[in-house]
Amino acid sequence: MLGTYLSTSRYDELLQHGRTVSTPLLHFDEEVVTQSYNRAPFLIGHDLTAHPMFSLTSLFALCRRMPVESILYRMGAIPGNADLDTSYDRYRAGLTLDSVLDGFEEHQAYICINNPERDPAYAPLIEGLMGEVASRTHALDPGITWFSTYVFISTRDAVTPYHMDREMNYLLQLQGKKTVYLWDPMDETVMSSREKDHLLAHVGGRPPYSEAIEPLATEWNLTPGLGVHHPFIAPHRVHTGSELSVSLALTFRTRHSDMATDAHRLNARLRGLGLHPRAVGRSEVVDRAKCHVARLGQRVHRGFDALAHRGIDQTA
Ligand SMILES: [Fe+2]
Repeated sequence: MLGTYLSTSRYDELLQHGRTVSTPLLHFDEEVVTQSYNRAPFLIGHDLTAHPMFSLTSLFALCRRMPVESILYRMGAIPGNADLDTSYDRYRAGLTLDSVLDGFEEHQAYICINNPERDPAYAPLIEGLMGEVASRTHALDPGITWFSTYVFISTRDAVTPYHMDREMNYLLQLQGKKTVYLWDPMDETVMSSREKDHLLAHVGGRPPYSEAIEPLATEWNLTPGLGVHHPFIAPHRVHTGSELSVSLALTFRTRHSDMATDAHRLNARLRGLGLHPRAVGRSEVVDRAKCHVARLGQRVHRGFDALAHRGIDQTA
């Protein structure tokens, strides 16, 4: 399982760190955050560009010592409408991790390091960054419940195909340039309510790209020292420029996004029964009620499962 769940007390510790750190590494415009957080993308600044832990030498050493399943790699240049979930298998092109690390530029490769925060050397730095995120978003969206970070290393002309994730994100550019195309997740022509319900209930694949939505994207040109906020489940596609690129994604969920996720899950169930539930995001009261029903249903389901297992144990 990717990512780390945060207890309330651990969240409070990270928040406290973020509020008291003497030299913050992330720079937010408070007015912009208040106006746009989780509604629209916006730029932030950071001081990680020259950080020694994000040099290629340090990152390649990290790749060699992390569990092999944490390092994903493929060719960089792939179609922008490729399926993200199968892209690492489909576009591996005979590469091995050693061949990628030994001849990264020559192979025009792309690496995704999953959860560098699991490495003891990287944990304090990345948890500190999550504390800074918490300190800036707490007033608007309190309670980060889970986070997961990723380092992307890509040679020129690499593409991360169109997709959406089930969380929020700050994507920070550390080296080279990236163009990030982002779409409004609340726009029904980009993703329908049904598609969002199914996305968050893990029913079928992620909503696909269609050429009709291309003009609806906003374009964000990232250079070292800049990052862009992705609102909850905002679809995106990313293109690397003409030189090597390194970026860090800080992704997270909050109590509120967990509530929305559970409301979408209940909607997906209702749709399975042939019903047409109200779209999530239109009424906070209705969404909260749906979340409670979804969680109650899950508890009842688990209770039945536990009873069934006990029954099996007793008859064994
Ligand atoms: Fe993504």
